[in-house]
Amino acid sequence: MTYSEAYRKLEQAGQTHLLAFYDRLTGEEQEKLLSQIESTDFSVTRYIGRKDQLQKWTVIAPLPALEIPQIEAERERFTGIGLEALRRGEVAAVLLAGGMGTRLGSDAPKCMYDIGLTKPVYIMQRLIENLKEVTDRAGTEIPFLVMTSDRNHDQTVSFMKEHDCFGYPGEKVVFFRQDMAPAADYEGKVLLESPSSIALSPNGNGGWFESMEKAGILASLKEKGVKWLNVFGVDNVLQRIADPCFIGAVIDRDCESGAKAVRKADRDEKVGALCLEDGHPAIIEYYEMSDELLDARDDQGNPLYNFGVILNYLFRIDALERTLGEDFPTHVVEKKIACIDREGKFVSPDAPNGYKFEKLMIDQIRSLNSCLPYEVDRRKEFAPIKNRTGVDSVESARALCLENGIAL
Ligand code: UTP
Repeated sequence: MTYSEAYRKLEQAGQTHLLAFYDRLTGEEQEKLLSQIESTDFSVTRYIGRKDQLQKWTVIAPLPALEIPQIEAERERFTGIGLEALRRGEVAAVLLAGGMGTRLGSDAPKCMYDIGLTKPVYIMQRLIENLKEVTDRAGTEIPFLVMTSDRNHDQTVSFMKEHDCFGYPGEKVVFFRQDMAPAADYEGKVLLESPSSIALSPNGNGGWFESMEKAGILASLKEKGVKWLNVFGVDNVLQRIADPCFIGAVIDRDCESGAKAVRKADRDEKVGALCLEDGHPAIIEYYEMSDELLDARDDQGNPLYNFGVILNYLFRIDALERTLGEDFPTHVVEKKIACIDREGKFVSPDAPNGYKFEKLMIDQIRSLNSCLPYEVDRRKEFAPIKNRTGVDSVESARALCLENGIAL
């Protein structure tokens, strides 16, 4: 893209300030900035202040979960169905590892975080150990796809190489990058991270399927006969991956998707709750729950919206394909964004100073026809690491690992 083409694009988007330092850059830097301008979609800034695009539904209803006693009664049968699907090569695992993990405050990708006490135990290692338990039992290895972002791709790939993929066969591990979105100040002006680069960050965990399709991975999985994707977050070190019983239950109930869920610890626990919105499966974020929904009960007095998601989903590929190209809402999230000010001085803020723009997985669920909420025991399957200390922290996850007999 030439300077004048870039200028025109920015003029239309109200972002010409991004060229303020252009004359001071080296030729190489100028080229880099122009190519970033070319590939960046500045239109996301139009979502600032537009809460209306986030809420589309009119009628909210309960979505009953498959609860632990029901699962236990059918565990053997569900597990058999799941193992067969794994052996037929119909399931792949997708790790969402493109996030910045800012709350944890480590510069390295979150998967490289070491939670060990007497020896190194990396988050990625914990996930792969859990996956291997299943693939050993099934007697077959499944594709393990890892979504990274431009921010952490190279480090993640070299870390996996250095550790020989923690014993998982390298040919089954495929990396792909998610898309990036620009960050903006409160006036909607896109920020520069340096005089020659725009402040870009990963565009949320909702863009994974589109990024996977763009990377050509979807086509190759389908060719191999993969029908189901088990998608999960990087931060839960007790995550059960490709769980045959979960897979079997979703297949048996003929659902397009399934979501592992935990019974809420209390009325106000900050987890997104599964429900039906206008007949479609959906997740309402905790901050969107009205008192009426929080207090709603069935005939036996059980809360009706009592199951929170833990970012472990099973999706049928053909159902997801229908959603490709759909315009999911964009969430405008206040964050701390390292940037340069108008004079070109670097600023590393202590408090939020602008917005990032993210697509979220929860909006994808809403486009499907069915989802099976599948209850799991949180003390066995839910040890998220979001913060350094306190709730959902390295400390709490370590305690849960030890409780489950995992040596650290
Ligand atoms: P989080 O919501 O915890 O976001 O991601 P984060 O960016 O990793 O962490 P904070 O908020 O900055 O502390 C939940 C899951 O979604 C993935 C993360 O890697 C994690 O597995 N994710 C998040 C992506 O893959 N891409 C994104 O753009 C955002």
